[in-house]
Amino acid sequence: MKPMQFLDLKQQYLLNKDRIDRRIHQVLEHGNFIMGPEVSELENELAAYVGVRHCVTCASGTDALLMAVLALGVKAGDEVIVPDFSFFATAEILLLLGIKPVYVDVSEIDFNIDPHLIRNYITDKTKAIIAVSLYGQCADFNQLNALAAEYGLAVIEDGAQSFGAIRNGKKSGALCSIGCTSFFPSKPLGCYGDGGACFTDDDAIAENLKSIRVHGQTKRYVHDNVGINGRLDTIQAAILLEKLPLLDGEIEQRNRIARTYSAELGGLDRLIAPSIVANSIHAFGQYTLRVGSHLREPLLAYLSEREIPTAIHYPATLSSQKANQKAGVTVSANNVVAEQMAREVFSIPVHPYLEPDEQHTVIEAIRTFLEKTE
Ligand SMILES: Cc1ncc(COP(=O)(O)O)c(C=O)c1O
Repeated sequence: MKPMQFLDLKQQYLLNKDRIDRRIHQVLEHGNFIMGPEVSELENELAAYVGVRHCVTCASGTDALLMAVLALGVKAGDEVIVPDFSFFATAEILLLLGIKPVYVDVSEIDFNIDPHLIRNYITDKTKAIIAVSLYGQCADFNQLNALAAEYGLAVIEDGAQSFGAIRNGKKSGALCSIGCTSFFPSKPLGCYGDGGACFTDDDAIAENLKSIRVHGQTKRYVHDNVGINGRLDTIQAAILLEKLPLLDGEIEQRNRIARTYSAELGGLDRLIAPSIVANSIHAFGQYTLRVGSHLREPLLAYLSEREIPTAIHYPATLSSQKANQKAGVTVSANNVVAEQMAREVFSIPVHPYLEPDEQHTVIEAIRTFLEKTE
């Protein structure tokens, strides 16, 4: 019997091998490896899928965030509000640019930035809010956009984990000034290397993004902006073109698996299953539970002994990372919910190819552990 996978990319590939191989070979044959025709074809398809005017693909989710901040003209000395509980890239791109990340606590309900707290952190230097749609569930952009409009701020979605998710009828990527996503292999829509994209309805922002992606060029060898080498490889675009049609079906599968987990585990004492906010579709990039901090390590060890893969997203808050000090940022955050999440969360396999008997094994193991440690 093959060992249980946290994510089964091989199975996904084998089921779609012919189409993916054919697309990759087309690129090998035409040889336009940089900005080949598949890149603009993909951008058109992604923009249509998300429901925005522009998609600008790029080399990673991190570059998407970096390009978004540069495209908005946020610069050294400015402040940007971010949630204190995310993958480090959300804040890292700010530290790189000399922008101060202002860490705000998250909500216990959806793990995303708590819009009610943001007002207290806005200063004359605040230029934008980056909200992460963590684990695949979109943050509350209705509230975030209203607040941002009041103070003249831009809003960026870090939708690295939420491509395909929906909130209030809008797709992740279409919820604010600029949506950013990642096509890292383990994301809901992943390529076979690094990749990412920005989404916007604003023509001027789209032009800036396109320029920043290619060293700030506006014409060949004319550099009106400071940019990066942030292009998506043509081969990755070709792979994504074949994988995009699978996405909605895979998200349905992930939701089906998540519903079973929540039905079987949600009622157990000492375990908190993820909630789904109203009017939304969760992409379930991760299925992340909470357990009392003293039980997390023994529970994960127990699952590991039974070859059940798990992960912790994430074991520390962003504000607690030493990189802040190294970048010259003094942080005095006291974000109690984010700190508690970092001690309590753990993720279990939710990939679309998880077999029912594998899921049963995960559920029974967690149940047995909790009974045994009563
Ligand atoms: C929330 C979040 N933001 C940004 C990123 C960065 O994306 P990438 O790895 O494609 O650079 C990730 C990737 O793990 C992420 O989870």
